[in-house]
Amino acid sequence: MAGKLSPIQQATMASFRNDFPVLSKTMNGKPVAFLDTGSSAQKPRAVIDAMKAAMDTEYANIHRGLYQFSQVTTAKFEAVRAKVADFIGAVSEKEIIFTRNATEGINLVAQSWGRANLKAGDEVIISGMEHHANIVPWQLLRDQIGIVIKVIPVLQDGRLDLESLEKLLSSKTKLVSFVHVSNALGTINPVSTIIKSVSAYNRNIRILVDGSQAVVHGAVNVSALGADWYVFTGHKLYGPTGIGVLYGRYELLQSMPPYQGGGDMIERVTFEKTTYKDAPARFEAGTPAIVEVLGLGAAIDYVAAIGMDNIAVREQELLAYGLEQLSGVPGLTLYGPAENRAGIISFTADWGHPSDIAMVLDQCGVAVRSGHHCCQPLMDQFGIDATIRASFGLYTNEADIDQLVQGIKKARDLLGE
Ligand SMILES: Cc1ncc(COP(=O)(O)O)c(C=O)c1O
Repeated sequence: MAGKLSPIQQATMASFRNDFPVLSKTMNGKPVAFLDTGSSAQKPRAVIDAMKAAMDTEYANIHRGLYQFSQVTTAKFEAVRAKVADFIGAVSEKEIIFTRNATEGINLVAQSWGRANLKAGDEVIISGMEHHANIVPWQLLRDQIGIVIKVIPVLQDGRLDLESLEKLLSSKTKLVSFVHVSNALGTINPVSTIIKSVSAYNRNIRILVDGSQAVVHGAVNVSALGADWYVFTGHKLYGPTGIGVLYGRYELLQSMPPYQGGGDMIERVTFEKTTYKDAPARFEAGTPAIVEVLGLGAAIDYVAAIGMDNIAVREQELLAYGLEQLSGVPGLTLYGPAENRAGIISFTADWGHPSDIAMVLDQCGVAVRSGHHCCQPLMDQFGIDATIRASFGLYTNEADIDQLVQGIKKARDLLGE
């Protein structure tokens, strides 16, 4: 993610902020500095309008009605599947399953592929910087069928200890599942390198990548990465809540049994026996999140028009600025690697607890996340219970970071000795 934006590109990036109605609001009487995009991004007008239009115009359930509204909505819904495939470099739209969120995508793989293919004693390797969404589904499976979970350690500088990964691999390893970009540290993991070394050890080991924080920070090509599955969640990509994506290699998806049963995923039902549709329909039981899928499509159009590479470069500029400004505040410890890092800065202060600081920041109009970021094992490793996390989006600017730094200084005056 190298490069620099020209002054014109910078001005254009700055203008996109106006597309987000929430950012012109105040919080506690102050202009809002929204630095919690890693948790959930704000929505551009294009997404809000697309969702409203989906309900205002020819709304109907999909895949069922022979009337015009249903046919048109079905076509728009399926067009988003193709758009998502294109956005992440999948070979075909048949490799795209719509889920509720990233969490559901990982649970789907664990319960469908995992239950069908793993047995007691088989090993699943995850990493020490996983979100709970990529820990707990494997623990549920462990409790159900007795798999063994192994963990790639995290180095003190916030990178994965990849030498240890080689030692963890064994003849029992069936899956390696890890995060592309850490939501708590910002670390961009070397996905291709990891996949290559796992495949060199044994090409039958399957790979799942949690791309929830990665698809928002730069261009992703799942085919080039070589992942078997890749998950992400719509609400962090400037789209609505309630919609996520599970990409899977098609022949792998075809080999997996359904995860949930119900309408729209069957070919024929009798009381004796049911046959299922091919992937991806087999994994989309019941009425899907129609309006949300159309909103996700609008979000992808929006970021694609800006250019994921431009978003990545702008974020790197902000990251450098943020790290520099925060390094100047006494008593802060910053977590995360010096290089290969997305627009996420996690820190603690030796003069105040993250939640107390976050409450002062709230009064200053600054929205950050404080807590364990659904990464309790990672917090344990650093011997802390929480950090403050400032996370950037395409609309973030230097003034937001200045407001954060001013707020932290105010918190220090209030809370510090
Ligand atoms: C890295 C990562 N994985 C998974 C998730 C879960 O996303 P969702 O709650 O939308 O399923 C998050 C959300 O914070 C995340 O940051």
